[in-house]
Amino acid sequence: MAKRKHNFNAGPAALPLPVLESVQRDLIDYRGQGLGVMEMSHRSANYEPIIDGARDAIAALYDLPETHEVLFLQGGASLQFAMVPLNLGPGGAYVNTGVWSTKALGEAKRVGAAHEVWSSAEDGFRHVPQPGDALDVPAGAPYLHYTSNNTIYGTEWHHVPKADVPLVGDLSSDFLSRPVDFAPFDLAYAGAQKNAGPAGVTIVIARKSVSRAYNGPPTTANILRYVTHAAKDSMFNTPNTFGIYVVGLVAEWVQQQGGLAAIEQRNVARADRLYAALEESDRFTPYARPDSRSRMNVTFSTGDADEDKRFVAAAAERDMIGLKGHRSVGGLRASIYNAVPDEAVDALIDFIAGW
Ligand SMILES: Cc1ncc(COP(=O)(O)O)c(C=O)c1O
Repeated sequence: MAKRKHNFNAGPAALPLPVLESVQRDLIDYRGQGLGVMEMSHRSANYEPIIDGARDAIAALYDLPETHEVLFLQGGASLQFAMVPLNLGPGGAYVNTGVWSTKALGEAKRVGAAHEVWSSAEDGFRHVPQPGDALDVPAGAPYLHYTSNNTIYGTEWHHVPKADVPLVGDLSSDFLSRPVDFAPFDLAYAGAQKNAGPAGVTIVIARKSVSRAYNGPPTTANILRYVTHAAKDSMFNTPNTFGIYVVGLVAEWVQQQGGLAAIEQRNVARADRLYAALEESDRFTPYARPDSRSRMNVTFSTGDADEDKRFVAAAAERDMIGLKGHRSVGGLRASIYNAVPDEAVDALIDFIAGW
């Protein structure tokens, strides 16, 4: 096998090696059953423990309250941009912290009124609201939507917003990276392909009062209603059986690392090390404002597009890949999700220090 690269891709992204090794084993013969995990009927006794296990493992990691449940959907976080307003109603309030929030707000506007209540567009989305910043949520708004980690700009909320209305969170790129109390949330969603598994499965955490009753317009297709999926335990139609299986393995792996509090500690420590290396170097500047820096996606630049390119190429020669910034920001980005080993982060830090 070729040597595995230091993979800093933003998503799909690195998966833990022990997870990949289990997948490799289970592909042909799932635990002595004589068939592979992708070949099972989703409604079979073979598969049921897999989806139940994945659901339970996520609920256990987050110590999810009884009021909430886990769903496995498809269509990525992008489908959630549409399902949220279709199910929770028009009039949602949106905190705009970048490309993904803008897209979520755009989909809400197709359904009816939606309000941008805060934006950091003016400084190129270099920061997110801080505790105490007013968000001006209109009274009676059905929800406040925020993006907990902005994959493209490399910013992250280090607190959960406080509002007098239920919360909806796009947690795509920092799901499973730290503990979250879901009690104030009506909904949270995450495309798995960053920190939780392969592309093609979306994890939704829903308040049961939202996922067990649909109060929207009758024209909304069945498949776009949370209640449809909740009533069938995420098996309304054929789910992404393979993706859900991998999410379950990743959740188990997170538990083996000591759970979300331990993972958070490690994530904070190594992001701090990487930002410190950038601050110490006179060649690089981090993109995000210090109070808003992401522990998952570290964005930076030399300030010179050609030099950034040379850095990406030279890093690739040392087996460090995925360091090119998103096309809408340029520069450089290192995504240091849970599954990126410490050695990879340290190799990058050394490379930055020597550049
Ligand atoms: C924070 C965030 N939200 C939404 C999306 C869109 O996700 P998907 O491609 O799963 O629809 C992404 C994708 O990178 C993301 O990073």
